[in-house]
Amino acid sequence: MPLDTTSHDIPVARTAADLRATVAEWRKMGETVALVPTMGALHEGHLSLVDLARKKTDRVVVSVFVNPTQFAPHEDFSAYPRTEAADAARLAGKADLIFAPDAGDMYPDGFSTTISLTGVAEPLEGTFRPTHFAGVATVVAKLILRAQADVAIFGEKDWQQLAVIRRMVADLDIPVEILGGPIMREADGLAMSSRNVYLTPDERKAAGQLNVILKETAASVSSGIPITEATRAGAARILALGFNQIDYLEIRDAASLAEFPSGHPTSPARILVAAKISRTRLIDNMPV
Ligand code: PAF
Repeated sequence: MPLDTTSHDIPVARTAADLRATVAEWRKMGETVALVPTMGALHEGHLSLVDLARKKTDRVVVSVFVNPTQFAPHEDFSAYPRTEAADAARLAGKADLIFAPDAGDMYPDGFSTTISLTGVAEPLEGTFRPTHFAGVATVVAKLILRAQADVAIFGEKDWQQLAVIRRMVADLDIPVEILGGPIMREADGLAMSSRNVYLTPDERKAAGQLNVILKETAASVSSGIPITEATRAGAARILALGFNQIDYLEIRDAASLAEFPSGHPTSPARILVAAKISRTRLIDNMPV
C-alpha cells in the first residue's frame, strides 16, 4: 500500500508492512535508522529527541501510537490528547517518516504475548501502575523490531521507563542502541509533558514549583540531611502547593533504582517524584 502523503509534508506509514518496505529501501542504500517512540501530542521535549536522532543516524522514524496496554482501566487512555495533524506539521522537515499504526495493526486478533519484567520495573511506577511497564516493554520491543532501528531514543523524564527499556533490550538481545535525551523544561522549570494540557491555570502555577522542591530536596540530601527526613519535608511542601496525592518522592540509585539502606546516597543518585494535582498525574526526576 502506498504511504499516506496526502495531508502532510511527511510520509505516514500505517502498517508494519509499509514501515518495513520504507526501511528496507533505506537499508539497501546502506543508511542507518533511528526510532523515536512517542504517543503523539508532540512538544519541544519530543522534538529534542528527534534532533538527537538526526545527529546519530541517516534516517529518523517517529512512531505515534497511544498504546492502550500501558494504561490501567481507570487511567486517561480515552482522554489522552490525539493531535495527529499538528504532530505531522511539527515533524515535517525534521523526521523522515511517521509510523502511526492503529491498535488492530499493533495487536491483531489472537495477540497473546506480553513481556514480563522484574527488578528495575518493580519499585516506584511499578508499585503504583503494576501493569504499566509490561505494556510499555511489549510495545517498545514491537516498535523497535518493526522499524529494525539501529538506535532508539527515549526522554529522561520517564527515567524508570528508560532503565526498564535498557534492561529489556539487554536481556532479550535486541540489537539496538538505547539513548536517553535530557528533560526539556518550561521557563519555570516544569518538565514538558503531553499531560500538562490537562492543568488549569492555578494547577499549572503550582506544578511549576514541583521541580523547585525536587532541586531543594536533592540539595539538602547532598548537604548531609538523611533521605527520609529530606523527602518527608519535600512531600509536605508538595501537598501544601495543592497537590492532592503523592505516589512517591524518593531518592534512589540512578541506575538500579535500589534504595540506599544507610539513608544517604552511596552511589550516583536520582530524586524521582510522581504526584497528582486534581486528576493530573505528573512525574519528574533529576540527579542528586
Ligand atoms: O514514553 C512514551 O511516550 C511511551 O511510554 C512509549 C515509550 C512511546 C511507549 O508507548
